[in-house]
Parts: sequence; structure tokens; C-alpha cells
Amino acid sequence: MIADLIKKIFPPKDVVGIDIGSYSVKIVCFTEEKKELKLKDWGYIPLAFKADATPEEKRLAIASEIKTHLKKKGVSAKYAAASISGNAVIVRYVKLPKLGKKELALTLGVEAEPFIPFDIKDVNLTCYVLNDVTEEGQPKMDAVLVAAKKEAVADKLEMLSAAGLEPLVIDVDSFALETLYERLQPKPEGTVLFLNIGHKVTNLSIVSQGVTRVVRDIFIAGAAFDKAIGKLLKAEPMAADILKKSKGLLVTDEEKQAAVSDYDKEGIAVSKAATGVLRDLYTEVSRSIDFYLSQGAENSVSRIMLSGGMANLGNISKFLSAEFKVPVETVDPFSFLGEQPLARNIPRETLPALSVAAGLALRKMKDWE
Ligand SMILES: Nc1ncnc2c1ncn2[C@@H]1O[C@H](COP(=O)(O)OP(=O)(O)OP(=O)(O)O)[C@@H](O)[C@H]1O
Ligand SMILES: [Mg+2]
Repeated sequence: MIADLIKKIFPPKDVVGIDIGSYSVKIVCFTEEKKELKLKDWGYIPLAFKADATPEEKRLAIASEIKTHLKKKGVSAKYAAASISGNAVIVRYVKLPKLGKKELALTLGVEAEPFIPFDIKDVNLTCYVLNDVTEEGQPKMDAVLVAAKKEAVADKLEMLSAAGLEPLVIDVDSFALETLYERLQPKPEGTVLFLNIGHKVTNLSIVSQGVTRVVRDIFIAGAAFDKAIGKLLKAEPMAADILKKSKGLLVTDEEKQAAVSDYDKEGIAVSKAATGVLRDLYTEVSRSIDFYLSQGAENSVSRIMLSGGMANLGNISKFLSAEFKVPVETVDPFSFLGEQPLARNIPRETLPALSVAAGLALRKMKDWE
């Protein structure tokens, strides 16, 4: 309690945003100099474990990687923010009966139960009230329910502590992306679909005029591409992963013809397998857009913001833009910083994967402003 109070009175300045994924760990730290935000550090650490590593060994290895990275870069920040996604957390935008704070705290478990597919005992439940509404003459409130699995939160806390950091918050990947978007686009316009395509999970959000309407995680991401490519080419997932990175999608007729004339069998197979997976992803995303539209929305998605490691798949923007018939933009999480050399020298293909970590680092700054 006292520690919390001290943090409130003397907010810690530098917070490290740490996005621990199944494929890589991403690290971002900002610092404020003369009221201006500066990128202090960034890191992209690919993960590779021994085949027989236990979950505990994996967590310790990740903590050690983080610790080594921060030491090497001379980052002395003490505080960290991490996040969860996938099946570790459920986010639901719901209508609840109008209740006061105390009543809500007492009855949250009961109100939330129908919306949460986990045992209520295993989750930390949080409810943010967005606004009051009237439905069929009854006073209600729009709220967002967040149910985070206690075990997943504890795992993240353990990794941060083992890395010598003090955890400040365990956020949700999609919320971190939203925080970043507020920075990138201070005056939000239209309806934006965010797709953060990682290795196991794709985080989807639909944000209309700056207000989030849908948040959902889809289990079609990089690993599904590796599996499909591996199956078609009879290759191990690791070999498939390398092929995926070097080949990408063949979208135009010219590209397809060129691959045929070059006898690029692997290129043709990778594109075929990847296109199949993208079609499945497209179906799932379309479902979320339909759900959003069924909630009385007037305008459909006008733009897609693409992030995560898979944003680098060759031609993915072109493919999605043609399928959804809207412009697709790849997220540069540091575009709001201007021409800072540290940010501008990050390899272009690393940028979209740093989006969640950047949002995590910003979220704490926002909370203390
Ligand atoms: N240049 C590239 N071309 C194609 N795919 C790429 C490229 N670089 C990375 N990827 C893919 O992006 C995925 C990893 O993305 P990311 O680092 O965002 O995942 P993660 O956050 O660790 O995963 P998750 O959050 O889903 O557990 C992998 O499937 C990887 O093969
Ligand atoms: Mg991720």
C-alpha cells in the first residue's frame, strides 16, 4: 500500500514495456527530456528453447534474456509493464444494469459470469464503465469486462521479477495497441481495424472515431502459416518459417507468371499455403466486422492498421487491401517521435513487431500525466 502511494506521489519516470510473445520478446523504453518523449531503448529478442524445456525453464530463460539485454544497453529503469492475450484473457463490451461502484464490486462476479467462458474463480475480473445508456426504458451502462486468468498474470509477474524489474501493470495486448494508436493518431477518424498478427495469436480491434467497439483474439497467426507451408512442402515448422520470410505471397498475375518462368516451386507453394491461411483469417475477421455492424454501426471499416511480426510477410498489405477493399497501413510505432536517430535506425521489418511493447511503455506515461 505504501509503495503504491509513493508511486502515485513520485511517479516512476522510465517504464520498460515488455511484450513477451511465443516467438519473440519485444522491449521498449521511453524517457522524457525537456517535456519531449525520447526513445531510450528498444529490443527484439527471438526466442528459441530446447525441445524438452519445461514452462518454468522457459520463463527463467526469458527473464534472463531480458535482464541481459537491459544490462547490455545500460537501461537502469526499475519498473516494467507487460501484457497478456490469447486464451489468457477475455475482453467483452457489454451492457450491464446501472449500478453504483459498491454494488458493482459486490455483484460483478454474477453479472460477468454469462459473458466469461472461464471459471470465475480462476480469473481476475475488472470492469470499466464507459457510459450510461437506456435500453427498453431501463437504465443501463456500457462497460468493458476484462477477465484475466490468474495463472497467466502470475507467470508474467514472475518473469518480470526474475528479470530484476518491478511490475507496474499487466495490460492486455489490444489495449496497449489502443494506447499507441492514441499517440499516432491524436484526432481519430473513421473506423479502423487493428490487426496485430503474431505467431500464435492475432489481436483484432475495431475502433470507431477513437472508441473501441470490438476486441477479439483469433488463433490464426504465424504458426498456422508455418504449419500449412510445412504440410505442403513436407518441411519442419522451422524450415517453413524461414521459407515464409524469404518468399511471401504472389498477388499479381505478373508475380505469379514470373514465379512460373523462374521454376520457383517453393515460392509458388509458400504463396498457395499462405493464401489459404489468410483466407481463413479473412473469414474470421469478416465475422468480427459483421458483429460490429450488427451492433448498429453506420460505417464499416475504412482502414486497416497492420502490426506484429507477420506484417512483414511479403505482399500481405496488398493482399488484405484487395480482400477488404480498404487501405492497409503498416504500423510504425515510433512515427510520432519525429527524426530521433535511435528510432529511425531500427530495421524497418522490426518496427511493426514493437507496437505492443511501445503501447505498454506509453500506457504508464499516460496514466501519470
Ligand atoms: N520478415 C518476415 N516475413 C514473414 N513473417 C515474419 C517476418 N518476420 C517475422 N515473421 C513472423 O512473425 C511471427 C512472429 O511475430 P511476433 O514477434 O509479433 O510474435 P509474438 O508476439 O512472439 O507471438 P504471439 O504474441 O502470437 O505469441 C512469426 O511467425 C514470424 O515467422
Ligand atoms: Mg505478440
